Amino acid sequence: MGGIIIFFDIMKYVRKMIEIEGVTFTYEGSSKPALSDVNLRIEEGDFLLVTGLSGSGKSTLLRLLNGLIPHFYRGKMEGRVLVDGIDTREASVASLSKKVGLVFQNPDNQIVTLRVDREIAFGLENLGFPREEIVRRIEEVLKKLRIEHLRYRPTNELSGGEKQLVAIASVLAMRPKIIALDEPTSELDPFSSARIAYILDILNREGITVVVAEHKLDLFSPFANKMIVMANGHIVEQGSPRELLYKKELMIHGVRPPSVVKLSYEYGVSENKPLTLGELLVALRGR
Ligand SMILES: Nc1ncnc2c1ncn2[C@@H]1O[C@H](COP(=O)(O)OP(=O)(O)OP(=O)(O)O)[C@@H](O)[C@H]1O
Ligand SMILES: [Mg+2]
Repeated sequence: MGGIIIFFDIMKYVRKMIEIEGVTFTYEGSSKPALSDVNLRIEEGDFLLVTGLSGSGKSTLLRLLNGLIPHFYRGKMEGRVLVDGIDTREASVASLSKKVGLVFQNPDNQIVTLRVDREIAFGLENLGFPREEIVRRIEEVLKKLRIEHLRYRPTNELSGGEKQLVAIASVLAMRPKIIALDEPTSELDPFSSARIAYILDILNREGITVVVAEHKLDLFSPFANKMIVMANGHIVEQGSPRELLYKKELMIHGVRPPSVVKLSYEYGVSENKPLTLGELLVALRGR
C-alpha cells in the first residue's frame, strides 16, 4: 500500500503537463501544413522559449495548447495534444482556459471590454464565478503585476505596455497552470519588454509553466530552461538556450544570436557560453 502511495506521489512530480504527439495541422484552404509531425513535451515548471522565422508555425503551435486548434481554427489535424492527460479534442476551450492561458500577440485583439477591472472579470464571469471571488481575483492579479493603479482606467486609454499587462492579468485571473504568450513584446518599447520578461520570470519561479514565442532572445533566453527553433512547421532544434544559442547552425534557421553571444565570440570566451552581461564579465575576468 505504502509503495503505491509513494509511486503516485512521485508520478505527481514527473507528470508532463502538455504532450504534443505527432501533430500535423493544415489550415482550411491551405495546401501546405502549418505544423508537420510536431512532438513536444512541456513539463511542469518549464520556461519554454519558442523561436523561428515568420511563418514557421510558432502561433499555430501556441494555438494547440489551449484547444483553439482544433476547436476554433478550421483545418485538418492529425496526432493529439494532451493537457494534464486530457485530449484537447475532447475538452472545451472554456475548460482548457482554466489550465492554459493564451496571451495574443496584439493585446487589442484580446481586450474586449472598456475598463480594466471589467476586462479581468470577463473570463471569470463567463465561467459563472461568484462576484466576491471575481473581486478577490481582480485584486490578486493587479497586485501581482503591480498595476493596481490601472484598476478603473478605460482600456482604450492604456499604453501598449499597459494593455499587454492587462491582457496578462486577465489570463492570470483564471489561475492557469500554464501561460502561453505569442510575441508579447513585439509592439512594446525596450522598457516595457524588459518588464514583461521580468514578470514572466517571477511567475515561473512561483510555479507557473511559461511558454513564450519570441524573437527577443537577448531578453528571454536567460530565463528559459528550454528552447525550440521552428522552421517550415517543424521543430528543427530543441535544447537549453545556452546549448542552442552557441550552435552556429542556428543561423540557417534565421535565428539571430543575442548580442552577448556575439560579444563572447569576439572576445574569445565563447567556450564559457555566457547568456547575460554578468556572465560575460565573469568569463572575461577569468581569462
Ligand atoms: N488563420 C490562418 N489561416 C490560414 N493559414 C494560416 C493561419 N494562421 C497562420 N497560417 C499559416 O500557417 C503557417 C504558420 O503560420 P504561423 O502564424 O503559425 O507562423 P509564426 O511563426 O507565428 O509567424 P509570425 O512570426 O509571422 O507570427 C504560415 O504559412 C501561415 O501563413
Ligand atoms: Mg505568430
